[in-house]
Amino acid sequence: MGLPVLGILTLYLNDNGALEERPIYQRMSLAGKKLGLDVFVFTPQDVNYKQNRIHAHVYNPATKSWTRRWSSFPNMIYDRCRIQRSHRFQQLLHFRKQYGHLTFLNRVLRNKWTVYKTMRKEARFRAHLPLTRMYESPQDLTEMIRKYPLVYLKPINGTGGRGILRIERHQDGTYLIQGRDQSRRIISPQRVPLSSLHKRLASWNLKSNRYLVQQGIQLKLSNGRVHDYRMLVQKNGEGIWEVTGCAGRIGAPRSITSNLHGGGEAVTMKALLGRWIGNEETAEKVKKTAEELGVQISSFLEQSYGRLCELALDLAIDRKGHIWLLEVNPKPAREVFIQAGEKETYRRAIIRPLEYALWLHDQKKLRKEKSTIRDETNPDT
Ligand SMILES: Nc1ncnc2c1ncn2[C@@H]1O[C@H](COP(=O)(O)OP(=O)(O)O)[C@@H](O)[C@H]1O
Ligand SMILES: [Mg+2]
Repeated sequence: MGLPVLGILTLYLNDNGALEERPIYQRMSLAGKKLGLDVFVFTPQDVNYKQNRIHAHVYNPATKSWTRRWSSFPNMIYDRCRIQRSHRFQQLLHFRKQYGHLTFLNRVLRNKWTVYKTMRKEARFRAHLPLTRMYESPQDLTEMIRKYPLVYLKPINGTGGRGILRIERHQDGTYLIQGRDQSRRIISPQRVPLSSLHKRLASWNLKSNRYLVQQGIQLKLSNGRVHDYRMLVQKNGEGIWEVTGCAGRIGAPRSITSNLHGGGEAVTMKALLGRWIGNEETAEKVKKTAEELGVQISSFLEQSYGRLCELALDLAIDRKGHIWLLEVNPKPAREVFIQAGEKETYRRAIIRPLEYALWLHDQKKLRKEKSTIRDETNPDT
């Protein structure tokens, strides 16, 4: 019998067949070989539904190139598809439905609002969730900005810091609006009285674009740049959730988001937290608490939404060392660790899903064997 096969499910980025994350998949293919796992990459467009075959992308280490090969279905599927506004995303929904019975390393998470509501139900997470509500009318923003001096507005399906606004209430009764538009461009800051706040935001169509209004956490460093943390939680080769790593991110100057694609910079958690908290002992405690929380959140979301193999959490740590969950990312990039100079964490981040896949495959085999033995020893049942 051949090696177990893992199919990485992704989407073409355009109609010319460009694939996202090809270098990562290349690494995964190589690492898979060493571990005893065959890895190929495919998109829903490459599936022949009639013949149940896949026109897969295969990395050939000998020639260091990608080739195509017709393959049967893989033993397991690792879903790396990120939301796209295109016909390709519709094909993905169809594929997930049609082949939902196959073994997926990870099922889909929901939008920011649904995940928030699910987590709010758990008392143990409540203190870590910035208060959030759906923007239904200007009233929602008015009430939130009365309650909190800082509020973030973000689209429920947004990514990479796109379309995010930050509203800060000032002592003199004015409100500072900053943010990034849908193309992630920094907008010019505006200071307005409450009476014109909503007028200024009218063009953002906060209701029809389905925005969240969220309690803002004060995260400006002494140089005025915002910061937060990216924690990667993954299942290991024994099927157990573990924190692979956590890196700090410092937003670009004048940016209200820390995302790397928006010009953010990655640093080690130790350096950033030490600088923010000051006291090394406290910083160490906060780090530990954050890690425990990360594992709890991941395992809870898995119970809620179905099998998962990894999640990246955007965490904020305020001046008091309190941890806040800003966002849960089901399809995390791993580059933050390379950029923070954490090579070993980056390597582990790539290998863990493969180790987990192998573990899962073994579990399935064991279960099958057990049920065969049961059937043989107990022919009547
Ligand atoms: N409630 C908040 N308080 C302070 N900063 C926030 C808040 N929400 C988001 N941010 C900043 O904006 C960035 C992007 O927000 P996030 O919710 O992660 O959306 P996206 O999906 O676009 O990454 C965060 O990484 C953080 O820097
Ligand atoms: Mg984010």
